[in-house]
Amino acid sequence: MPKKPATPPSDPAGLKKNLTSYGDNEFSLFLRKAFIKGAGYTDTALDRPVIGIANTGSAYNPCHGNMAQLMEAVKRGVMLAGGLPMDFPTISIHESFTFPTSMYLRNLMAMDTEEMIRAQPMDAVVLIGGCDKTVPAQLMGAASAGIPAIELITGSMLTGSHRSERVGACTDCRRYWGKYRADEIDDQEISDVNQQLVASVGTCSVMGTASTMACIAEALGMTIPGGATPPAVTADRMRIAELTGAQAVQMAKTHLTIDKILTADAFENAMRVLLAIGGSTNGIVHLAAIAGRVGLDIDLKGLDRMGRETPVLLDLKPSGQHYMEDFHKAGGMATLLRQLKPLLKLNALTVTGRTLGEEIERAGPGFEQEVVKPIDSPIYPQGGIAVLYGNLAPAGAIIKQSAAHPDLMEHEGRAVVFENAADLAARIDTDDLDVNKDDVLILKNIGPKGAPGMPEAGYIPIPRKLAIQGIKDIVRISDGRMSGTAFGTIVLHVTPESAIGGPLAHVRNGDRIRLSVKSREISLLVSNADLKKRALENPVASPTAERGYQKLFLDTVTQADKGVDFDFMRAARTKGSIPR
Ligand code: FES
Repeated sequence: MPKKPATPPSDPAGLKKNLTSYGDNEFSLFLRKAFIKGAGYTDTALDRPVIGIANTGSAYNPCHGNMAQLMEAVKRGVMLAGGLPMDFPTISIHESFTFPTSMYLRNLMAMDTEEMIRAQPMDAVVLIGGCDKTVPAQLMGAASAGIPAIELITGSMLTGSHRSERVGACTDCRRYWGKYRADEIDDQEISDVNQQLVASVGTCSVMGTASTMACIAEALGMTIPGGATPPAVTADRMRIAELTGAQAVQMAKTHLTIDKILTADAFENAMRVLLAIGGSTNGIVHLAAIAGRVGLDIDLKGLDRMGRETPVLLDLKPSGQHYMEDFHKAGGMATLLRQLKPLLKLNALTVTGRTLGEEIERAGPGFEQEVVKPIDSPIYPQGGIAVLYGNLAPAGAIIKQSAAHPDLMEHEGRAVVFENAADLAARIDTDDLDVNKDDVLILKNIGPKGAPGMPEAGYIPIPRKLAIQGIKDIVRISDGRMSGTAFGTIVLHVTPESAIGGPLAHVRNGDRIRLSVKSREISLLVSNADLKKRALENPVASPTAERGYQKLFLDTVTQADKGVDFDFMRAARTKGSIPR
């Protein structure tokens, strides 16, 4: 019987995709093949589905220090499934190796990722990310590029041991630094602990932003089930990498594009998980940015409503006591999702082609463990994050209530104002700083445009004169962000920010400030008439720059509630808001 001719694909595939423009497509393909054959490829290899792999290995990024092993495993998976792996470099961003702050470069990495996916021939892409900004940047870029995409997390670092105490970056970094500032430990001990905080390559071992985004990526359906938690240096992580490569080939063959996965239901699941894990406050900003790429807005009031019915179940630092490797041993995300099941949108599709509900079923019945609490016996009764409004933050601010001090959640105090990060650094530890434990520290000009890049400077240190009295927490307010590894009664993301004339710009020393987490209020107890007068007396000019990326950033970056993405990178049309 004569063989039926195969139906030609409607879109070009493999090497025929995204041909360079020479005015003759056949010549473009001929030339492309000639060059790749120079690297020793055969026609058989070049006929396979092409799987791009975003390689974010960098000597400047130890959180991605297992990249070579991951790459080998992903490529093995791609080839076992009949694809052709092609890795390509993109920007890689590490938290403590980027000036002025990693957030300043997240959008650049998203643009790099998107344009490399668009420019090069690939039927699906594996995105390898881990350190805080890399996973959101990759998801933003891939969401805009629109092809089948799957995220591979580099995995968390191992924990270390300091004088028999288990330690890990970076909640313990901050805790020990606080002890050092308060003269509780000496130079030798702070040097010793510095050797132990990061015991291997991989991402921070607590529920900081990297772990938060890993869990969010899995909740969104963007990773292989179980892909969030295996530590970086384990066999489990390498198996996930191999499976990821293989799954990318299946996604290419079935045209499982990212828009089918990043739906409103998927984002709602991610918000639910963010609350239940006591996740980093940065998770909201990144989710808003990723959602914006597919035309969805995160409704902060809706997030707060979800928070009131979503308890914190995960007992990880900084809200709890365990580390990521413990979460993995406790079954990882499957254990958490099983508990959260009644609150999830189970029909949301994942990269496997199955729904989240189906994946929870496939993960089996679970087992006894201590890291994920039952939903009727949580570690904190409400979601980790509360959204605050008031005349100080008309478009919202947030507080990580699960990491705040219970005695300070209802508080009124006198403002002690720092005009910017330099002012803070110059005065916070001076003996003549007029401050007491009931005051409210205000830091201005660390928002998206103010610093610029909304640095993680919202974790304002306890003034030294209070620290040596043993004061561990004090109410702090800023328009900046805070590392997910930090803790304290800290109000962040005050919107609009002070650098564009938000009310925060007009707070003065001695003003009274009221924080009520119970009524979700953050208020400056100054009359509207006085505030208007102050604004007229001290008008604020929004910052700009003469040229380059800084100009692009300052002229187009959005506020925290819109994800601090560039306004022109969001989807052209808004489809709705989440939760619906
Ligand atoms: Fe990379 Fe913490 S510094 S994850």
